Amino acid sequence: MKFTYTNPTQIHFGQGQISSITKNIPEDQKVLIIYGGGSIKKNGVYEQVISALANHTWLEFSGVEPNPTMETLDKAVKIAKNENVEYILAVGGGSVIDGSKYVAAAACYEGDGWDILLGKHSVKSAIPLGAILTLPATGSESNSGAVITRAETQDKLPFFSPAVHPKFAVLDPDAMKTLPEKQLVNGIVDAWVHTCEQYLTYPTNAMIQDGYAETLLKSLIKLANQFNDRDNDQWRENLMWSANQALNGLIGSGVPQDWATHMIGHELTALYGVDHGRSLAIIQPSLLRNQISVKREKLEQMGRNVFGLENSDELAEQTISAIEAFYHSLDVATQLTEHGSDKAQAIDSIIKQLEAHKMLKLGEHQAITLKESREILELAV
Ligand code: NZQ
Ligand code: ZN
Repeated sequence: MKFTYTNPTQIHFGQGQISSITKNIPEDQKVLIIYGGGSIKKNGVYEQVISALANHTWLEFSGVEPNPTMETLDKAVKIAKNENVEYILAVGGGSVIDGSKYVAAAACYEGDGWDILLGKHSVKSAIPLGAILTLPATGSESNSGAVITRAETQDKLPFFSPAVHPKFAVLDPDAMKTLPEKQLVNGIVDAWVHTCEQYLTYPTNAMIQDGYAETLLKSLIKLANQFNDRDNDQWRENLMWSANQALNGLIGSGVPQDWATHMIGHELTALYGVDHGRSLAIIQPSLLRNQISVKREKLEQMGRNVFGLENSDELAEQTISAIEAFYHSLDVATQLTEHGSDKAQAIDSIIKQLEAHKMLKLGEHQAITLKESREILELAV
């Protein structure tokens, strides 16, 4: 095992913590507050942000959509450049935080912002950024990744840079009180699959990473089982912290990682508008069945340690069924057809996009080529 690990985001966790940002952003710096479609105006988050920044100079940009688009974000890039913005404050879910990362990076670049997603521009500098999280799911509030869509061409691509790693993040579970049930479920599923992407590969005897991943998975099962009693502080706190820890870099340090479910899932979202979390639930069980020979040992470990299943020759298969049952218990579909897509045409379109995006060798063994991706999709319809 070999890794270098740092997570520089200062976390302010708990109720009433939004006021902490006053000290995080120097008073002499001009702030651009970025948010989405307005949910923050219905749950008191906006007011708390404005009051925390009472002595700062700030501007705002709203309207970042779920699965944020370059087309919208470039308007904020223009503002950031023209107004000499010195700090960006993202207030929202993964889409707003990812979008803000793009704005922070593109504002320090003279070329076309999409170059960042194409890898033509490697981001070395960005406007400093902080995040106020309102939807626990992606972990974007304390990681260095972002996923941006180009609406015109239906491309949804990720980029990564330490320069866009948030300086601080506020995780106040009270902000979750207005979340629709559907988004809470999306968050559970996304955090679950993030953990799996860094755990369900092959054994490397990484006791700490495996043990912590298993704790996260068991906690997510508990939270899903308590879904009907979710209207309480501790349930919200535990989900918010689980989703953060699932993708802050820790459990993935020094271990093999997969991410094929995500890369194929992103195409489903870009082409058919399937919510991110739900795209993963469609792909993952079929992907695990397709890759069972190379994932068998970790699936068996998960079966024993997470689901409490007994040893048997069918343990890996039973683990996949248990994962599928977990999604179904949350009323989340695991087949593409449940979203009403035309089978043959959908598969062709997704494969075409994977090819265009050079997603030709996915997974921990780089063994999921377009052939395997097609097989996975065929299993998932
Ligand atoms: O726009 P507003 O009005 O805020 O409404 C949002 C949006 O409609 C709403 N919402 C958020 N907080 C709320 C709320 N509604 C009521 N009360 C609240 N407290 O929820 C809707 C969905 O929000 P969105 O930010 O799109 O959801 P999520 O956090 O699941 O983010 C999904 C995006 O993150 C990317 C996905 O691809 C997708 O684009 N990802 C980012 C990752 C990363 N940066 O590390 C990793 C992930 O795997 C993922 O790919
Ligand atoms: Zn995800």
